Amino acid sequence: MARTVTVRLGFTGDTSDVKLVIPDEEPTPWQWGDKFSVVGRATPRVDGPLKATGSARYTYDIDLPAMLYGAILRSPYPHARVRAVDLSRARALPGVRAAIERGEPIVRFAGQEVAAVAAVSPAIANDAVALIKVDYEPLPFVTSMEEAQKPSAPRVFSDRSNVAAPSVTETGNVASALAQAAATHEAIYTTAVQTHVSLETHGAVARWEGDELTVWCSTQGIFTVRDDLAVLFNLPPDKVRVITAYLGGGFGSKFGAGPEVVIAAQLARAAGAPVKLMLPRSAEHLATGNRPSSLQHVKLGADRDGKLVAIELVEQGSGGIGGGAGSAGPFRTLYRCANVRTEERDIYVNAGPSSPMRAPGWPQGCFALELAMDELARKLKLDRLEFRRRNNGNPVRAREFDVGAKAFNWEEKSRAPRTAGTRRRGIGVAAAAWHAIGSAGPQAQAIAFRDGRVAIRIGTQDIGTGTRNILAMVAAEELGLSPSRVAAEIGDTRYLFSVPSGGSSTAPSNTPAVRQAAAHLREKLFLIAAPMLGAEPGDLEARDGMIRVRFEPARAASFVDVCRRIPADSLAAQGEHVPNYAGFRHDQAGCQFVEVEVDVETGIVAVLNVTAVHDAGRIVDPLTARSQVNGGVLMGIGYALFEERRLDPAIGVMVNPTMDDYKLAGPLDTPEINALFIEVANGVTNTGVLGLGEVVHVATAAAIACAVYDAIGAPVRSLPMTPDKVLAAIGRA
Ligand code: MOS
Repeated sequence: MARTVTVRLGFTGDTSDVKLVIPDEEPTPWQWGDKFSVVGRATPRVDGPLKATGSARYTYDIDLPAMLYGAILRSPYPHARVRAVDLSRARALPGVRAAIERGEPIVRFAGQEVAAVAAVSPAIANDAVALIKVDYEPLPFVTSMEEAQKPSAPRVFSDRSNVAAPSVTETGNVASALAQAAATHEAIYTTAVQTHVSLETHGAVARWEGDELTVWCSTQGIFTVRDDLAVLFNLPPDKVRVITAYLGGGFGSKFGAGPEVVIAAQLARAAGAPVKLMLPRSAEHLATGNRPSSLQHVKLGADRDGKLVAIELVEQGSGGIGGGAGSAGPFRTLYRCANVRTEERDIYVNAGPSSPMRAPGWPQGCFALELAMDELARKLKLDRLEFRRRNNGNPVRAREFDVGAKAFNWEEKSRAPRTAGTRRRGIGVAAAAWHAIGSAGPQAQAIAFRDGRVAIRIGTQDIGTGTRNILAMVAAEELGLSPSRVAAEIGDTRYLFSVPSGGSSTAPSNTPAVRQAAAHLREKLFLIAAPMLGAEPGDLEARDGMIRVRFEPARAASFVDVCRRIPADSLAAQGEHVPNYAGFRHDQAGCQFVEVEVDVETGIVAVLNVTAVHDAGRIVDPLTARSQVNGGVLMGIGYALFEERRLDPAIGVMVNPTMDDYKLAGPLDTPEINALFIEVANGVTNTGVLGLGEVVHVATAAAIACAVYDAIGAPVRSLPMTPDKVLAAIGRA
C-alpha cells in the first residue's frame, strides 16, 4: 500500500512543497528544514582507531593456517602467440604446491597473465615463476592511437578493426550554428592514460572447504565477485562467500573477480590449501585497469551576448585492449546550448585494459571543454566566470558559483598583481556534474540485542570513504542513539544483498535501506515500550537514548531498558531501498576554483589553493564529505600535473610502473582546500543522500588548466601539464 506525503524540497532560497507517493513501509523522506541530532554533525571515523593502530583487517592482513602464496607470470611482449608453457621446472622446485597455465592462446599487452604458481613462501613463488618456460611467438603490435589507425597497422584483435564504431549524438545543427556564431574557438586537447594506484593493490585470499569457496578480496563489489566466481567454478552462489572488511581504495578497477582473484581460487583448489595472491605494485600499473587517454577536437561557438550556440566534440581515446574511452558527458551536460554534437571513438592498442575510473570520461571531457571555454571567453572579452554563469542552466550550480566566487575572492584575485620575480599567478574555475542518486537493491537488517547494543548488517563495503560512519549515523538518527552505539557490520556476502560501490552510489543506495530497517526496528521496540509506559506505540518517540511519550518527556524508558524486555536474544527488522521517487532533482552540480603559481623559468606549476563547492543532497557527515573533496582534488592535481602511463613504442612496455617513476601528487603538492557544501533536499529517497566520490574529481584538472592559462597567457592543451609543455606554451605566448 502506498501513501501520499507532502515534503518541502529544494535548497537555500529555492524550496517548494512536493507531493510524493511512497510505499507504506517507507519512513517519510527527510526534507528541507528537518532538525537532526546526529545527521549533519562532524563525526570522526568510527573505525579510525582500528585503522590508525593497524588492527583493521585488510585482505593484505589475512593470514590462514597452511596458507600458500601465489605469484603470476606476465607476458613481457605486448603481442604474442603463446605456443607452449612448460611448468615442469617450476613444479619441481621444493616448496611449490601448484602451477597453472592461464590458457590464453594470444597475449595482447605486456603484463598480461600467462601462468601462476603457489608456494610456501612469496620468495619461492617468485623463484618458481622465473622457472616457467614459455615459448612465445612475438607478433607485431601498436601502442599509439596514431599508429593504430594506419591501414597497415597490426590488428590488436584479429576479428575487428583497431578503430571501434563511433558513438554519435547530435541535437540541433552544429555546423550551421558555428557558421553563424559571432565568435568561435577550435582546438585539440589531449589527456594521458592514468592508472589507478589504489593504496592496497588488487588481490585475494582464497580458501576451499569441500565445494565451498571463501574469498577475502580487495573489491568494490563483494556480491559481484561472489557471482563471478559462482559462474566460473559452476557453484551455487551460496557456496561462495566473499569478505571485504576493509579495503585500501577502489576507484572503479575493483568491481568483479579479476584475473588475480580467479587465479588465487584456481591455485587454492589445485594445491588443496588456501592461497594469498596480492599483486605487486608493477602489476597494478600494468594490468588492473586505467583511465583511457583522449584526443579531443573541440569546436565552440557563441553569439555576441556570450551565449553558447554550438558545441562540438570529436573524440578518440584508447583504453588499450579495453574500450569505454568516451569523454562527451560534460559537453552534453555542463552548459545550456541548442546545438551540440559529440562523436566518441575507442581505439585499440596493445596496452593494459581500461576500467572505469572515478567519473569515467568526465575529467578528460571537463578539461577540454572548460579550457576551450576560457579560450573562447578571451575572444569574447568576457570574464570567464561571467561567461559560465550566462550559459549555466543548473540553479544549484548558479548558487555554487556565487558561494564559491565569494569564498575564493574571485573578483579581488582577478585584479591582483600576477607577477613576482619568475613566478606568475593565475586563477581558474570549472564546473562539475554527476548523478549519484543511488538505486534500489540494497536490503539492510537492523538488530537490537538484549544488552542494548544495536547492529546494522548490510552486504555493502567501504572503499575507504567512511561507509560505516554514514550507516551508523543514519541508524542512530532513527533510533535516537549516538552513532557510537550502533555497529555497522558490512563487507560480507553472508549479510543481505547490496550493490557494488561504484558510480558514487554507496551512500545514496545504502542509507535508505538502513534508515527503513532502523525505522522498522524502532516500531518493534515501541511495541515493547508502550505497555511499559502505559502509552500507545504511535505516541512514542526515540530520542537521546530514551524511548518516551511525545510531548511528555517525563514518561520515558531508556533504550537499554526497553531492549532488556526483548523476549529473545535480539530483535531484528529489515529494510530495503525502494525505487527512487521523482523528487526534486536527479543530478548534482558543483564547481571548483583554483589558484596556481607558475615558475616561468622552470615550467613548474604549484597549486596554491582550491575552493570546491559541491552538493550531495543531504550531507550525513561533513567530516567524511570534506575528506571526499580532499581526495578528489588531490587525485585531480595528480591528473593535471603528473600522472602518465608511459609506453616505450619500440618494445611496447610500460616504462614507469613503479611509485618512483609514476608520479602522484605528494604532500608538498597539496594546496589549501576549502570544501563548501550546498545542502539540497532532493526527495529522491527517504534520506535524500547523494554520493560525492566522483563529482569532486571532475573539475579539478580543468580548473588547474584554466588557472595555468590565466597565469601564462597561453593554453596548455595537454595533460599532464608537465614543465616541458608549460615552457613550450610560454614560448608560444
Ligand atoms: Mo567508480 S569509476 O564508479 O568506482
